[in-house]
Amino acid sequence: MNATGSIDHFRKQWQTHVAAAEYDVTYPAESPRNQWQLLERIKADLMRDLLVKEGHGPGSTVLECGCGTAGIGIDLGLKGWCVTGLDVSEDALEMAARNAASHGLGEELKLLVGRVEAPPVPDGSFDVVTSFGLLEHFKDMGPVMDGMVRTIRPGGLFVAEVVSFRPSALVAGRLFDMAASASYNLAKLRVRKALQSWRKLVPDFYEKPLGRNGCRRVLEQAGLTDVRVWGIRPFPPLGLPESLEQKYMSLMGRASPFVKWFDAADNVFTNAWGWSLMAVGVKPALSDQARSSS
Ligand SMILES: C[S@@+](CC[C@H](N)C(=O)[O-])C[C@H]1O[C@@H](n2cnc3c(N)ncnc32)[C@H](O)[C@@H]1O
Repeated sequence: MNATGSIDHFRKQWQTHVAAAEYDVTYPAESPRNQWQLLERIKADLMRDLLVKEGHGPGSTVLECGCGTAGIGIDLGLKGWCVTGLDVSEDALEMAARNAASHGLGEELKLLVGRVEAPPVPDGSFDVVTSFGLLEHFKDMGPVMDGMVRTIRPGGLFVAEVVSFRPSALVAGRLFDMAASASYNLAKLRVRKALQSWRKLVPDFYEKPLGRNGCRRVLEQAGLTDVRVWGIRPFPPLGLPESLEQKYMSLMGRASPFVKWFDAADNVFTNAWGWSLMAVGVKPALSDQARSSS
C-alpha cells in the first residue's frame, strides 16, 4: 500500500460498511449466518490450535495488525488471549469496538489507530504479532514487515495469512462467479452486463502475486527464522444468491474433517489449491540475534 490508493480504498470501504452497520459480516460466529462467517470460524479455530501448538496459549499477548473489524482478535480475546488491534482506519476500529461489545468483550480488547509501518507500541512488547489479508496489498512489504517484527519480543511468533493473487481455489472461485454471472445475464438477455462479467476475475484493489517461496523470502528478509509457509482454505468465497449460500455452507459444514486435514496438511495438492497462505516465523532470541550480527 505504498500505493496510498489502497489505503483510501479500504478507508472508503469501511465508511460504506459503517453506514450500512455491517460490522460483523466477517465475524467468526459460533453459528455462522453466511459463508464469510463460516470461513472465519474455521480460520479462528485454526489460529487457536496453531498458537497453542507453538507455545503461545491463552494469556499470551497478541498484536493484530490491519485488524479491520478484528474478528479473529475478538475470538482470541474471548478465549483468554490479551489482544490489541491496530488499523489505519478509525471507521474500521469503530466497527471492531462495536463487534467486540456485541460479543461480550469490553476493554480487554485494546484498539489503536496507526500504521503498521510505525506501530505506536514499544519494541518487543508482544508474544505474537499477526496480520490477516494485509501483506499482499503492499507493493513494498519491507517497511511493513520491519514495523511488525519490531514489536515482537525475542523468541516470539509472527503469523500472517496472505491471500495473494496466484492460481488456486480463489481463481477457480472467481471463474465460477464469472461464468454464473454471464449465464444469468444472458438468460435475461442483458448482453452488455453478460460481457462485463469478466470483471469478476479482477480484484478492485492492489493484490500482489506472491507464491509460497516469495512469501517465505519476505519473512526471512525481515529477520525471522524457522519460517514455514503452507496453503490453507480449500473452499473459496463465492458470490451466491441466498438460497445457494445456505447449501454451500452446509457442504462446507459436512466437509469440516476434510477442511481440518487440508489446513494442516502442507503437501503439493494443498499448497497449490489452498486459496490462502499461512506464513509463520520466529523472531530470534537476543543471543541468536547477537551471534548472527557478529
Ligand atoms: C483486507 S483488510 C483485512 C482486515 C482484517 N484483517 C480481515 O482479515 O478481515 C486490510 C486492513 O488493513 C488496514 N490497513 C491498510 N493499510 C494499513 C497500514 N499501513 N497500517 C495499518 N492498517 C492498514 C485497512 O484499513 C484494512 O482494515
